[in-house]
Amino acid sequence: MYSEQFRPQFHFSPKENWMNDPNGLVYYKGEYHLFYQYHPDSTIWGPMHWGHAVSKDLIHWEELPIALYPDELGQIFSGSAVVDKDNTSGLRTSEEEDVIVAIFTHHGEDNEKQSIAYSNDRGRSWAKYKGNPVIPNPGIKDFRDPKVFWHNETNKWIMSLACGGEIQFYGSPNLIDWEFLSSFGKNYGAHGGVWECPDLIEMEVKGENEKKWVLIVSINPGGPNGGSVVQYFIGDFDGKTFTCDDSNETVRWADPGRDFYAAVSWSNVEKPVWIGWMSNWQYANDVPTSPWRSAMSIPREISLAKTSEEEYKLIQKPIKQLEQLRVNEPKEEINVVVNESNSYTLPKVGSLVELDLQVKEAKAEAWGIRINHGDKKNTGITFNLKENEWIIDRMNSGLVDFSAEFPSKDAATLFAGQGVQTVKVFLDTASLEVFLNEGESVMTDIIFPTENDVRIELFATNGEVIFHKVTVTKLKGIW
Ligand code: FRU
Repeated sequence: MYSEQFRPQFHFSPKENWMNDPNGLVYYKGEYHLFYQYHPDSTIWGPMHWGHAVSKDLIHWEELPIALYPDELGQIFSGSAVVDKDNTSGLRTSEEEDVIVAIFTHHGEDNEKQSIAYSNDRGRSWAKYKGNPVIPNPGIKDFRDPKVFWHNETNKWIMSLACGGEIQFYGSPNLIDWEFLSSFGKNYGAHGGVWECPDLIEMEVKGENEKKWVLIVSINPGGPNGGSVVQYFIGDFDGKTFTCDDSNETVRWADPGRDFYAAVSWSNVEKPVWIGWMSNWQYANDVPTSPWRSAMSIPREISLAKTSEEEYKLIQKPIKQLEQLRVNEPKEEINVVVNESNSYTLPKVGSLVELDLQVKEAKAEAWGIRINHGDKKNTGITFNLKENEWIIDRMNSGLVDFSAEFPSKDAATLFAGQGVQTVKVFLDTASLEVFLNEGESVMTDIIFPTENDVRIELFATNGEVIFHKVTVTKLKGIW
């Protein structure tokens, strides 16, 4: 049980000290591994280690000892992990267990290079490979965050690597000998900051008998609302080259809220699930929490869908396992009408909340959800139909003045066509994650409300909104 102020109750956070990116996400024998950028001696960023936690359900986490420590080649920056089922690396020593291989960046004082480490006991102990680095630095300053998967068609491991303003792909038969394949991105997408933490994922397109490749790229700074953000590209990958379907100017944000960064997916699972670091480099070191800093997002299932605009879009859905956090039956109300003079206050269910709205008709200039934290503070979610955008407003959400960058109104574009049909909100002690239209548009923001007394209202301005159903569910914590 954690009871500190602002301690996330159903999101992973380390017991103590600093955490950033999720690393080495891999599933093996009933356990999801979550490694993470970790500084064990301080609540601010410093010499990076890989912290470690495991979960049987992606919801409840057990923290394990630190997996990787800095060494003479440098700090342990971000990277990934794979189960080397065929022992291509030759690093397997156990009869019973497959070898898990972690591929990470050694960040030295002079440069960044890629190295590997391996575990023959289900991730409990790790040895670094004697021949590190496996990819030396070729003269590129930012050269990091290897994400590796097995490509069946060409029978080799593929690594995506962030190299300043582009992604480079490497191939290997054994995770040790790597060959440069191609690069992507110089003339594509957003370049307001350095590219980091790539992930290349083949995804099914919902309802179509088709698969596409999605290249995930974190970028810092350069987010539409400031600071760190995840962008993505849709296209194809032939084992050597990623070909983007979009025009050079197209920019796609996965979650333009302020606090979803460095997101990558689990390896060795059937359907892609990813998790992001719920913070932003603009103020990550200043957030008012102690004795830990930062939390991960909720895990989200990711897929592609063709939207009404006949466009492919990344869809993110909170994983189904979150339903086990529901306490009692959800409280439902049908045919709720909200207008200028009548707002609607939802039944109180505490401060850990899952909220679901099904919109029947929205004929208002703007409408939304006001999350009141006590009498004086609130966080707003507003759908501005006139401006065709939606906004999370955390200007008056609680503690905001620990950083000049923190108070914000974060905007994302609304959809052309059918408008907002469903809204799902996961509210924890210090964050909200908002999913529109079954995950078609998503924003994540952290907040620091000092009052735990949560009262949620629905409102509309200049017109009326009719909800087919309004559902509020009390959640329990995971610790
Ligand atoms: C992204 C990042 C990575 C790097 C790590 C260092 O947040 O900057 O590119 O590997 O954090 O902690």
